[in-house]
Amino acid sequence: MAVTSKRLLLSDIVSFDKIKEIPSNYIRPISQRPNLQDVVHDSIPLIDLHDPNRQHVIDQIGQACRDHGFFQVTNHGVPESTITNMLQIARDFFNLPEEERLKLYSDDLNKTTRVSTSFNVKNEKIASWRDFLGIPCYPIEDYIHEWPTNPPSFRDHAAEYCRSVRVLALELMEVISESLGLDKDYICGQLGKHCQQMALNYYPPCPQPDLTCGLPAHTDMYVITILLQDEVPGLNVMKNGRWIAVDPVPNTFIINIGDQVQVMSNGKYKSVWHRAVVNRDKGRISIPTFYSPSSDAVMGPAPQLVTDDEPALYNQFAYGEYYDKVWNNGLDKSFDTFMSETNNSNDDAPNPSQPFS
Ligand code: OGA
Ligand code: NI
Repeated sequence: MAVTSKRLLLSDIVSFDKIKEIPSNYIRPISQRPNLQDVVHDSIPLIDLHDPNRQHVIDQIGQACRDHGFFQVTNHGVPESTITNMLQIARDFFNLPEEERLKLYSDDLNKTTRVSTSFNVKNEKIASWRDFLGIPCYPIEDYIHEWPTNPPSFRDHAAEYCRSVRVLALELMEVISESLGLDKDYICGQLGKHCQQMALNYYPPCPQPDLTCGLPAHTDMYVITILLQDEVPGLNVMKNGRWIAVDPVPNTFIINIGDQVQVMSNGKYKSVWHRAVVNRDKGRISIPTFYSPSSDAVMGPAPQLVTDDEPALYNQFAYGEYYDKVWNNGLDKSFDTFMSETNNSNDDAPNPSQPFS
């Protein structure tokens, strides 16, 4: 019999209850199980961001956005020590005693800095095999007072990391704009007051990794995601209807474009389905940085990319409406559901790709 636990965080269920079977609320229906034996090990493009031939960087990123929606970057400007320290404070945080981690626990989505588990524990039927700490990180001065003070170096190291990753995010948005033939400041200029958030994800070891997911298949609702992962594999990306495992490469970041770039590019670039799978033996840490617009920013296809031959695929909407829908409807329904509702006057809207087909 599967057990249930009163503990709030998954890592404590795993470590205290020493479960051999996962609790029943983590078991996914057969159609959503990861079929780990079918995952192919493959790679996504690895791009040197400071190749002296800038046009070459722009072309490679454009191609990666069209073909994969994902790429990795080296020579990205974030110092190795900043990355090492960030991973270390994330490990140290999740190794803190339960009562210390629970100080920031909340299932209230309106709380900006919080520790929680799964995705949205308030309304989901099936839980995801992860705990996380979510922190807003831009402007840092507005939020740093909310961040954990334990481990003691948390604020210093996390602030240094966030500042450095923001520079990278701005640079990537410029290159992505240029790769679409837009002014380099185009994407930056559409976001209103910029938002940067970071999640520190911890996926504990799982006795039955075939039955559950760390994060189920989803697209990212933001503009771009900059993912740092430790040495334990777990990220799967959808390519031509198959899941491919993207194994970690030290000191690189994995970049993916989010739903807002799909909209701004008028569908030229796709926000691609991905998921996190878990494994029996090793806990895994991943640290995505999400760069997004403010709630009142209006999203829509760039006018320069709308022509008689390529009419607008999406109507305009306020980013906040979209964000609320995703958090309330669940990760797996996000883009398709929202666009079909927002586009109900547009019968030519494309039939969006589905992760399970
Ligand atoms: C995410 C995500 C993947 C990972 O947080 O949106 O897709 O490997 N994470 O943790
Ligand atoms: Ni994601």
